[in-house]
Amino acid sequence: MFKINDVIVGDCLNVMRNFPDECIDLVITSPPYNKKGKHGGKLVEKVIYDNYGDDMSEEDYQKWQIEVLNEIYRILKPNGALFYNHKVRYDDGNMIHPVIFLVKSKFIIWQEIIWNRAITGNIRGWRFWNIDERIYWLVKQKPKELIQNYAQMTSIWNIRVETEHKIHPAVFPVDIPKRIIGAILGEEKGIVLDPFCGTGTTLVAAKEMGKDYIGIDISDKYVGYAKKRLQEVDPILFWYY
Ligand SMILES: C[S@@+](CC[C@H](N)C(=O)[O-])C[C@H]1O[C@@H](n2cnc3c(N)ncnc32)[C@H](O)[C@@H]1O
Repeated sequence: MFKINDVIVGDCLNVMRNFPDECIDLVITSPPYNKKGKHGGKLVEKVIYDNYGDDMSEEDYQKWQIEVLNEIYRILKPNGALFYNHKVRYDDGNMIHPVIFLVKSKFIIWQEIIWNRAITGNIRGWRFWNIDERIYWLVKQKPKELIQNYAQMTSIWNIRVETEHKIHPAVFPVDIPKRIIGAILGEEKGIVLDPFCGTGTTLVAAKEMGKDYIGIDISDKYVGYAKKRLQEVDPILFWYY
């Protein structure tokens, strides 16, 4: 029912419903963006997942995300945190900002971080090339202060995308979860969850930094890959990023 240091194949809502209240310290995740092949430009059409279509109506998608956010809220410890990666999408002239649905969840939005993905190359001239995504620091109550070294960082993170995990179209760089785990947990123990774990990037960072982890993904192919990645990780005691 609730096993740590495991990666589970399944729908994250169904899986999380079996978790007890207030058992998780930190959640770091990036859901599918409901791209429907058009948000953000042509390149997004390359984001095709193994067994998930990512093509809900926008209304259903936002309802689903609010449900997922509220389930995460339930299983987070009172002083826990969720770091939720999303982006501003453009659909036929409408801007769809993640804040539109985030404010409908139970969470307090503690901070919006701009992630500069540091990529170049425009493919269409409709808009300036979007290279930013957002990471929302969401909490249940005022959090404790950041681990000292991290407090000097700004709310703009320049972290280059990684391209080595070809099995998956939307992997985030391991430096994102490493930075978050370092800043929030520091040397403390804790359980780090990623309910849309894909190739297991969050879990790899957690294991490397000596934390417990749980990953969930709907694709057994991605879960298999995540497990292989995790086998190759040697936990190190702790290091500041
Ligand atoms: C943006 S990707 C996450 C990538 C991950 N951060 C990484 O670095 O590999 C979103 C993931 O959500 C998964 N997914 C889609 N629907 C899901 C669901 N209902 N429950 C769990 N995972 C789901 C997809 O298979 C995909 O791997």
